[in-house]
Amino acid sequence: MGNMENKLTVAVTGASGYIASWVVKKLLDHGHVVHGTVRDTENEDKVGHLKKQGVSHDGRLRLFKADLLEGGFEEAFEGCDVVVHMASPFLIGKVSDPENQLLRPALEGTERVLNAVNASASVKHVVLTSSVVSIFNDAIEAAELPDNTFTAEHWNQTSSLDYQPYNYSKMMAEKKAWELCENQDRWKMTVVNPAFVLGPSLSKRSDGASIDFMSQMLRGDFKMGAPLLYYGIVDVRDVAETHVHAIEREHPSGRYISVNEVQSLLEMANTIQSVTENVEYPLPTKKLPTFLLYIFGPLRGFSWNFIKKNVGHKIQFDNAPARNKLGVRFRSIEETYRDMVLQMDRDNII
Ligand SMILES: NC(=O)c1ccc[n+]([C@@H]2O[C@H](COP(=O)([O-])OP(=O)(O)OC[C@H]3O[C@@H](n4cnc5c(N)ncnc54)[C@H](OP(=O)(O)O)[C@@H]3O)[C@@H](O)[C@H]2O)c1
Repeated sequence: MGNMENKLTVAVTGASGYIASWVVKKLLDHGHVVHGTVRDTENEDKVGHLKKQGVSHDGRLRLFKADLLEGGFEEAFEGCDVVVHMASPFLIGKVSDPENQLLRPALEGTERVLNAVNASASVKHVVLTSSVVSIFNDAIEAAELPDNTFTAEHWNQTSSLDYQPYNYSKMMAEKKAWELCENQDRWKMTVVNPAFVLGPSLSKRSDGASIDFMSQMLRGDFKMGAPLLYYGIVDVRDVAETHVHAIEREHPSGRYISVNEVQSLLEMANTIQSVTENVEYPLPTKKLPTFLLYIFGPLRGFSWNFIKKNVGHKIQFDNAPARNKLGVRFRSIEETYRDMVLQMDRDNII
């Protein structure tokens, strides 16, 4: 399978995560050697599925212990051709201390990881997992762009520790990475900016934001009505593919938006319903009136400021560079939802 001629040694930080697990699997399927960093190499709930992948791929996966706030990456990067830096806390809502829960691990972690890259002479390429939230903060920004379309040129300029701190942590980390990249000339960098990632998980964990969101949808948390919010959506397997293509194919250094389609919450619910015909999930069937959103939104973590700048504002993303320069083919959104609901149902995490 894949490109067997040019086998590489690739380090992946945060290898146990939802997206990273797919990147590791695809790299192993393509014949590469993988050095995965995780916070705890003995936590079977987090790394059991990775260890099985290693065994079924001739032991080509090695796990190393490293933490964004403490370091430990040098050993994992020794002898690597490529480093994929994906570890970063993805927390929305439940954040009481944004500086310590989000910004420090994202920003100082990126500095630690790239300093370790600088210290390991073999690394020629860094692939950084950023996000579309590093490109924009509020949907209203799209109103000023041709076809309401965000491109790689755009940067999030309005997030802060107080407003959308996750977005802030990703933007600050990506900026720091470009700065460190420009200070040297041994390694080049490709940044992948995924939109909201959905699709089946390779582990049974339910603590990730993507799985948590789908659980809320299927449990009926939006049954009263869905706010008119639009999300760029992309399949986790296609995001992994974007990273793997960035590793294997010649392409210009830069930012690559990884997104398939934009849907409103209600359109998502309708599509999910259409692919899970045999089960009646309490999905939303109507739009939540905006006045109710202003009353109940703050209780669910939507501030008035967020509502004003996001509800009802259409967005689009330019995925042409990912398709044309990296050769990514995005699968249908129906397949994404169907496979995700099947996996969550099978693993009892709805
Ligand atoms: N899911 C999305 O919709 C989405 C969209 C755009 C970008 N992204 C980005 O994609 C990456 C992976 O996210 P995901 O969705 O796969 O979420 P996830 O499953 O929660 O993965 C986050 C990873 O970061 C690791 N991590 C967190 N804090 C750490 C620390 N202090 N030291 C070392 N590792 C730490 C976690 O390690 P443990 O396994 O030990 O907890 C986990 O492996 C992140 O950079 C995220 O910002 C995600």
